[in-house]
Amino acid sequence: MKVFINKIIPAIGYRMLEEAGLEYTVWKEKPILDRGQAIQFCKGHDAFLSAGQAGLDADFFDQCRHLKVVALHSVGFDGVDVAAATRRGIPVGNTPNVLNKATAETALLLMLTVARRALFHHKKIKKGQWGISQPTEGLGIDLAGKTLGIVGLGRIGAELARICIQSWDMNILYHNRGVNPEAEREFGAKRVSLDELLAQSDVVSVHTALTEDTRGMFGMEQFKKMKSSALFINTSRGGVHNEDELTQALRDGIIWGAGIDVTNPEPMHPDNPLLDMDNAVVFPHIGSATKETRDAMTRCAVENIIAGLQGKELPYPVNP
Ligand code: DGY
Repeated sequence: MKVFINKIIPAIGYRMLEEAGLEYTVWKEKPILDRGQAIQFCKGHDAFLSAGQAGLDADFFDQCRHLKVVALHSVGFDGVDVAAATRRGIPVGNTPNVLNKATAETALLLMLTVARRALFHHKKIKKGQWGISQPTEGLGIDLAGKTLGIVGLGRIGAELARICIQSWDMNILYHNRGVNPEAEREFGAKRVSLDELLAQSDVVSVHTALTEDTRGMFGMEQFKKMKSSALFINTSRGGVHNEDELTQALRDGIIWGAGIDVTNPEPMHPDNPLLDMDNAVVFPHIGSATKETRDAMTRCAVENIIAGLQGKELPYPVNP
């Protein structure tokens, strides 16, 4: 049985495959494979371990009907037509839970970096302007005691809420389709409408999956409903916010700052104006990018591959 891996994964993954007696091919080159090339490779293999391969649509699964399993090296599967895979009997797996803390920490890092205007101060040193600031210049804002509004309070949002309560005694509001009783019990989190969350939060942090319901959920209309002193943080998917309108809202002082780990499109163009703004921080989708987390994600993905090739149920399936 042969596995195709479209990017370099942590060493633990190759060891697990070897121990399971599986052969594998890894695409180690840059540029990364386009969809057509990935299909060609998949044709000569029984399983596909996909780290962010674009275009896993119905046509992909038609051309790769022979695959016994597709293991995603991510928790998100918005780029994959899971229903099409299911119709063709192809199990698809992801890497849930293991990246909750790392992603919540990325949201925190963005919150702090924006709240304390860290990049602005860093740039000042580079410009040789350290020591000439006025006591009123470049001031940040405190997070302690403020209100955090979490849009999509699931496992990652819960990690963020926990740290924000423990560190800064923040009040937690959330907006979900359903009630999250554990979050209400553990964090005293209050479920509110989106409009109420936007109006009351000092920090709005987005953790929702990208679906047809959440695509473009944050645009000028929503930014205008936020406090002018508020921060917008997005570590979920770039498609959830409208980037031009976010830029405009930051330029016009409609909101105070924004930190995003996800952009639309990815990668962000190096000339994007957000990269030059003092009240914006952009990371290149590093939510899960710690050594420990990437190892853990690799373990989940390879466990999915091994189970799929043995004809067993995947430990981390996304098919309904
Ligand atoms: C995920 O796992 O979905 C992350 O966004 C990718 O790092």
